[in-house]
Amino acid sequence: MNAIKVGLIGLGTVGAGTFHVLQRNQAEIRGRAGRGIEIAMVAARNPERAKAFQAIVGDGVPCVGDPQQLVANPDIDIVVELIGGIEPARSLVLQAIANGKHVVTANKALLALHGTEIFEAAREKGVVVAFEAAVAGGIPIIKALREGLTANRIEWIAGIINGTTNFILSEMRGKGLDFATVLKEAQRLGYAESDPTFDIEGVDAAHKLTLMSAIAFGVPVQFDKAHVEGISSLQATDIKYAEQLGYRIKLLGITRRRPGGIELRVHPTLIPSSRLIANVEGAMNAVVVQADAVGTTLYYGKGAGAEPTASAVVADLVDVTRLATADPDHRVPHLAFQPDAISDTPILPMAEVHTAFYLRLVVADQPGVLSRITTILAEHDISIDAVLQRESAEGERQTDLIILTHDTVEGRMNEALAKMQGLPTVLAPIVRIRKEELA
Ligand code: HSE
Repeated sequence: MNAIKVGLIGLGTVGAGTFHVLQRNQAEIRGRAGRGIEIAMVAARNPERAKAFQAIVGDGVPCVGDPQQLVANPDIDIVVELIGGIEPARSLVLQAIANGKHVVTANKALLALHGTEIFEAAREKGVVVAFEAAVAGGIPIIKALREGLTANRIEWIAGIINGTTNFILSEMRGKGLDFATVLKEAQRLGYAESDPTFDIEGVDAAHKLTLMSAIAFGVPVQFDKAHVEGISSLQATDIKYAEQLGYRIKLLGITRRRPGGIELRVHPTLIPSSRLIANVEGAMNAVVVQADAVGTTLYYGKGAGAEPTASAVVADLVDVTRLATADPDHRVPHLAFQPDAISDTPILPMAEVHTAFYLRLVVADQPGVLSRITTILAEHDISIDAVLQRESAEGERQTDLIILTHDTVEGRMNEALAKMQGLPTVLAPIVRIRKEELA
């Protein structure tokens, strides 16, 4: 059988990695796919990269500046989109689909925002849109959720799905440094982008979580309903206190099935130090999945980088190659569930989310202060798990009061926090970080 022909849009880190992995492992890949997978055309905006690529591959593989030329090329069977961002990626992917081409993409933002439109277009045209590389880089979590765990009713997923923020949090904890200092160091080392907003504000993690949630629970991709909170206001003091209480703070993406709907949230979270996922350090990613039949499973690995991400892109290329000749109705559905089985279960607003809390209050060190605070919590039916009082770095006649609560409803906690903040003996904005036992 002739080799399947691939058009590669984007010759950045992942594009180059994909090319190298395909070249290096071509014999094994052919053995697995049943036919060769050949890069037949490349589109790159950067002329220097294009020139360097051409120097390696020679004239056999045309490298064009205009990706339209590639998606219009009738010889191309699969378009690999590795440029990221919304436009022109969205238009190129839709055009490729309209031209009857399968698509492999690592573009989490595109699918989290426009997945419904793209998957529908692909279904109508009978082509595949594969996106293993969009979530947690080299970890085959999409394959695991969509196929490996297909017997299960998934209960929740919790993931460290952004390496940049995990690196920053690991450094803050390990070296006792503040966020701004570690961010600068991360940028110097190349772990953080010069504009790190998407990573540090939790947006990148929320894109990935949105995709996992849709696959796990059979709902449409709904990024606009996700709660997104990053780590930029996290203080070293809270990482230290969390540690003293037996917890680590991680930026977690959490999606959980509840009786009234689905939780979909990214925020800094205290988790017990004894959990395996609490010990995932540096730029590594990890995802825990709780499901009814298998129980807890954990997936760990590199969430970014040239070859780890290429590993996922090439796995998708092999999948698409195997499935290219299969009846579209018998392929694995894009979001795991058949289109007529996608449910309209709502995403819950944050006020209805169930979670526990870490609170840090800077309070006047005088009689009755603690009792007024615990009274407010009791009045809101919020149960205390642990209390710690420590000398405040802020001044002598005040103290840091750290309270861990049991699970409650977030809306109730918001009301209690507003009341506590109004006390004259509470001297600074209360720090509130959610806490999950992941049991
Ligand atoms: N910027 C991401 C991270 C990798 O830091 O994990 C690509 O999503």
